[in-house]
Amino acid sequence: MDSIRIQGGIALQGKVRVQGSKNASLPVLAATLLVGDSSFIRNCPRIADVHAMVCLLKSLGCTVRWQETGIVVDSSQVRRGEMSGEAVAGMRSSLCLLGALIGRCGEAVMEYPGGCVIGRRPIDMHLCALEQMGVEFHRETDKLRACAAKLHGACIRLPFPSVGATENVVLAGVMAEGETVLEGAALEPEIVSLCRYLSDCGAFIQGAGSSRIVIHGGRRLWGTEFCVPSDRIVAGTYLFGCLGAGGSILLEGAPREEMGAVLETAERMGGHICTSPEGIYVQAPGTLRPICLSTAPHPGFPTDLQSVVLAAETRGAGCTCIEETIFENRFRIVEELEKMGACIRRRDSRRVVVQGVEKLQGAEVEAKELRGGAALAVAGLMAQGETLIGGYPYICRGYENIGRDLRELGARVASV
Ligand code: UD1
Repeated sequence: MDSIRIQGGIALQGKVRVQGSKNASLPVLAATLLVGDSSFIRNCPRIADVHAMVCLLKSLGCTVRWQETGIVVDSSQVRRGEMSGEAVAGMRSSLCLLGALIGRCGEAVMEYPGGCVIGRRPIDMHLCALEQMGVEFHRETDKLRACAAKLHGACIRLPFPSVGATENVVLAGVMAEGETVLEGAALEPEIVSLCRYLSDCGAFIQGAGSSRIVIHGGRRLWGTEFCVPSDRIVAGTYLFGCLGAGGSILLEGAPREEMGAVLETAERMGGHICTSPEGIYVQAPGTLRPICLSTAPHPGFPTDLQSVVLAAETRGAGCTCIEETIFENRFRIVEELEKMGACIRRRDSRRVVVQGVEKLQGAEVEAKELRGGAALAVAGLMAQGETLIGGYPYICRGYENIGRDLRELGARVASV
């Protein structure tokens, strides 16, 4: 399936269960490499990036089995740290296998990681942090070789709270000899869940969720059962989809405690939000209020939901200013939204002004990356007539079945 077709103009109603988190499950799956034992990771989403991670784990010698409620990974037979195949080049989060493999095998060989085309996405912080722990890197044209005769703890300060670099330091630090102190760590909930899994396996980690993480490495680890939290970005996509298209919905199992800035933004846009242990109730206003929004590292507003707000505000009652501070190429949907009649002015490469219009018109548009693709689906829900969104495989990298979820909310969506 290459495209989805959406018949817009229908307000969303009903409830949808939120899938497991992509960004939480990938580093936990990478971490299963460290335990040399069997782990059961529940609530993994059935998305392309998780399937790619499973392929990588298998190619490294793990036995991996899908079960109805999760994935069993047995990493007892892993011997060598060479990753091969397209999966690495296509997936940014293969990068967290770097720290895990160095921790497990003392070496890692991989093609340079890919992922969504949303900026340059360098890996200098990962390399610099791991070098301080005794890792040597050899950069070849198409491959990166890493080896560590002896991985040791270190005091590391990240110049920016990179999520991926924090994950790599945690993964390597758990296997390193001695203490690792990481200052300037990312605060994202995905770091907390990775550390929770590793602690359940016997690792000693303090401070996850704060900017200073301390790890006492070299402990014996064992396998465990772990449940991946629900996906805050998927929940946010449907939340802003409801604000844009109108209606009222329940996001069952949405991780409300991880979504403070998202819920606050939704309220500023005029949405009525109510949380309960069941999930998040969302009621759209008659017209969306315009806002000023800046993305920021957690607990700020997540960059992964910026384009969804942009799409929703194309029909807001005034001028919305959006500033992207994390990635430099995250306005690639602007020209697609313009095909649907949106009025958006680029102030510079990091800032746009959205002037709300009366209506969007369905059109043929193209997803160019994961979150932008989901934002086009939101625009399709809001538009009059039919929208055909190409590049559907990008959306499948992070959404189990966006068509099924939106149909549960009463939308008319078909895969083609
Ligand atoms: C993760 C998420 C992604 C999310 C992002 C920010 C996963 C699989 N992906 O990506 O969905 O949008 O966090 O919340 O969890 N940077 C450098 N050098 C480095 C590393 C990063 O300059 O060595 C820059 C990046 O180019 C970017 C910024 O730092 O501008 C943030 O990147 P980072 O937090 O590392 O994001 P990812 O871990 O790639």
